Amino acid sequence: MRKLAAGNWKMNGTQSDLAQITQIGAAFDAASVDILICPPAQLLIPAVTASPHVAIGAQDCHANASGAHTGDLSAPQIRDTGATYVIVGHSERRTDHGETDATVNAKAAAAVDAGLIAIICIGETLQDRDNGATLNVLAQQLTGSVPALATAQNTVIAYEPVWAIGTGLIPTLDQIAQAHAFIREHLTAQLGATAADMRLLYGGSVKGSNAADIFAVPHVDGALVGGASLTAQDFAPIITALQNA
Ligand code: PGA
Repeated sequence: MRKLAAGNWKMNGTQSDLAQITQIGAAFDAASVDILICPPAQLLIPAVTASPHVAIGAQDCHANASGAHTGDLSAPQIRDTGATYVIVGHSERRTDHGETDATVNAKAAAAVDAGLIAIICIGETLQDRDNGATLNVLAQQLTGSVPALATAQNTVIAYEPVWAIGTGLIPTLDQIAQAHAFIREHLTAQLGATAADMRLLYGGSVKGSNAADIFAVPHVDGALVGGASLTAQDFAPIITALQNA
């Protein structure tokens, strides 16, 4: 499987930031891993042409292909920009917009139907972890959020502990190992053999300084990176660490 270094710019970035994508592409024009940036929606079209070496994705899609949904973007519209990925079920969407596992499942299925690769995010809160409920929560989110049509080719899973996102806190390497092994096992029971090759990303406060350690953990096939993906300078060492893993 080709590992994946994915950047999620969230609600950051204007046209002047497209140069960061071009720079990353120039620095990794023969990368041995896949490189993805998910910019805000208004940058999707120019981002697609910013570099032939960087794939582009959206940060959310609607579950319907078209219709009366003011302010939303559908998966076919995202595909029409030339983007090839979409993140669904990020914890900020689950919290800010009340997205449930059923919503995320429908969005992921719509993404795959439109020819996009869905990056489905799951992860426990600090309260879940303190209650010893982490693996139960992950099981529930996988069962609820991952559609039956998911394969290694059309779906990526991102494990993002909510308490590690944007906080500078990361789980111990043992905790990451436990979560990722559990996710692989659960997906195998849920989807069958295709789960063996499905890419499992870790996300939450990944930086150049901790990336190599995280990428050495079994079943970590890449990262979903927020803050440290905003500049080529910060993202490049993470891509290098993934290539060397
Ligand atoms: P962070 O965000 O790297 O800034 O913690 C990760 C994410 O939300 O995907």
